[in-house]
Amino acid sequence: MIAVTGATGHLGRMVIAALLKKVPPSGIIAVVRNGDKAKDLAALGVQVRLADYNQPQAWDDALKGADKVLLISASEVGKRVKQHRSVIDAAKRAGVKLLAYTSILRADTSPLGRLAAEHKETEGLIRASGVPFTLLRHSWYIENYTAGIANALAQGAIYGCAGEGRISAATRADYAEAAVVVLTTENQAGRVYELAGDTAFTLAELAAELSRQSGKKIGYVNLPEAEYKNVLVKAGLPEPIAAMLADSDTGISKGGLFDDGHQLSKLINRLTTLLSTAIAGEMK
Ligand SMILES: NC(=O)c1ccc[n+]([C@@H]2O[C@H](COP(=O)([O-])OP(=O)(O)OC[C@H]3O[C@@H](n4cnc5c(N)ncnc54)[C@H](OP(=O)(O)O)[C@@H]3O)[C@@H](O)[C@H]2O)c1
Repeated sequence: MIAVTGATGHLGRMVIAALLKKVPPSGIIAVVRNGDKAKDLAALGVQVRLADYNQPQAWDDALKGADKVLLISASEVGKRVKQHRSVIDAAKRAGVKLLAYTSILRADTSPLGRLAAEHKETEGLIRASGVPFTLLRHSWYIENYTAGIANALAQGAIYGCAGEGRISAATRADYAEAAVVVLTTENQAGRVYELAGDTAFTLAELAAELSRQSGKKIGYVNLPEAEYKNVLVKAGLPEPIAAMLADSDTGISKGGLFDDGHQLSKLINRLTTLLSTAIAGEMK
């Protein structure tokens, strides 16, 4: 039995879809906080179980009988260590044989300080729990950028403070496939994967590719971190999220999301999705 948390999220859905190609639906537990969002999964025969990260007591039932668990990192920045602890503690009580966790690239040394801190702490909890684990340390999702294409086209610019930092991003589908390889093959315990795209780009190169494909001139505007944070706040993001994203861009400028180890493509046995392909898919 393989349990996946955050199963109705973007990544979780892709993991379940990829898992269904390899294991029968009855062998998959989709842990969700909102059963209504998972009706389609239940209809496929996937076991849907309810648990909220904020309710530690719910996780014993949610993980009952699970041999392997994929803990997809939670999304509420600042609350995540406590939320992840609910799952880690229950996984320990359930005696799971493998707990895989979606972390961030080089979580222990990452210059993306605000973002990496919760991942680093979670990794520490997992190690201390004694549960056999695999760390899936992700670089950025390409979708972080393709989701902003309409905005960039409207503004004629991409803003950031990442400087010349190169970003080895891959798509959620690439990372989902990697998680499924880990969950369905033996001898994964103790492994720490630094997962990143095969090709890297700067934000100026992102703007150039978007210009090429759209036929519109899109520039990259590199700002000081505080100014970029203000741009994000003016665009409607809550201050702590804007601060975290601007801090992450500064981390990118220091190489925090660049990686040329190609562990992701080795794991999924194919090249990761190109930025140009992802942009073309979004602009169809
Ligand atoms: N590497 C990157 O570039 C990058 C970018 C964005 C996010 N991330 C991380 O990767 C994770 C997965 O990404 P994603 O795009 O799939 O995010 P997402 O679509 O927001 O999915 C997050 C999932 O977590 C569930 N969730 C949130 N709070 C919960 C709670 N209190 N109890 C139980 N479930 C809860 C959500 O449930 P509902 O479906 O009910 O909302 C959703 O299924 C994110 O949560 C974040 O930690 C990484």
